Amino acid sequence: MPEKQDSACILAIESSCDDTAIAIIKDSKILANVVSSQSIHKKYGGVIPELAGRAHLQYIVPVFNEAMELSKISKSEINAIAYTQGPGLIGSLIVGAQFAKGLSMGLNIPTITVNHLQAHVSALFLAEKKPDFPLLCLLVSGGHTQIILVKSVSDMEIIGSTIDDAAGEAFDKTAKMLNLPYPGGPLIDQMAETGNPKVFAFPISKLPDYQYSFSGLKTSCLYFLKRNIKENPQFIEENINDIAASMRFTIVKTLLQTFERAVIQYKIKDIGIAGGVSANKLLRKEFENLAKKHGINAHIPALEYCTDNAAMIAIAGHYKYLANDFASLNEKPFAR
Ligand code: KG4
Ligand code: ZN
Repeated sequence: MPEKQDSACILAIESSCDDTAIAIIKDSKILANVVSSQSIHKKYGGVIPELAGRAHLQYIVPVFNEAMELSKISKSEINAIAYTQGPGLIGSLIVGAQFAKGLSMGLNIPTITVNHLQAHVSALFLAEKKPDFPLLCLLVSGGHTQIILVKSVSDMEIIGSTIDDAAGEAFDKTAKMLNLPYPGGPLIDQMAETGNPKVFAFPISKLPDYQYSFSGLKTSCLYFLKRNIKENPQFIEENINDIAASMRFTIVKTLLQTFERAVIQYKIKDIGIAGGVSANKLLRKEFENLAKKHGINAHIPALEYCTDNAAMIAIAGHYKYLANDFASLNEKPFAR
């Protein structure tokens, strides 16, 4: 293997779910960030794992070619290949991992395995103004809801998480009940902008420690809709923006009330949000307000780094590269 240099050019691959993504960064500056989202799942109301794996196979070479073209670098300038090792869908992860290993062998450069959740948090370090440690991060995605105490780029401790559904799932399942396509989070967010969050009241769960629960909210929404549709079959159509606004308000309030308790308890000065749900307009606004209220710094990723992307894998890979933390070619292609 060639000698490791301090200035790193990393090509990163993300294929854990339904986005095929490749990014190239040099000295933590983004040269290319390509994401191809698989639209095939829309009609099924959720991601179908077998279809996702096959679609990654179809997209990965064109996405790679586009990223190389955008970056304007040659393959020989790449120092290492970082790829998502998990958590995620096994068939999807295997495609990214095998592509990474093939590139690594062809270019005679090392691979770096990246944890998808750590990468979401690492997206906060793509910004010019980097967070200070300890940082408290609210990670909210389609599969996870966690409060993470970030002590350094490599030392992250989960201090709270959901005991059932994730926040993204709560948005997506609400959307499904409202007959909206997958992924429903962005649509609920958009509709909520013109709705009134005070029209319908939903329960805000409050669990001990820093735990979350969203399954009760989902059931409550289901029965609320059933009850009202019985009286008025047009209930959803006539009230969709207010329902979306009320559900969005409830999910954001649930997320932030527990997070705020942790901020106070841990005497935190820097807070961040990460994951797909951090694209939510109300959450971003209320997160800023929370920071202002406590006189602390809020770190909110640019929209393109909230939902799944490979720039976040690249920056996480960059720090592992600097720490000489390389993977073997015999590494399992997926991990939890
Ligand atoms: O991080 P991500 O792209 O994939 C996972 O790692 O899960 O997150 C996807 C989740 C989906 O549940 C999607 O509905 C949600 O993020 N999401 C949003 C918004 N944009 C994406 N939820 C609420 N408001 C949004 N604007
Ligand atoms: Zn994700």
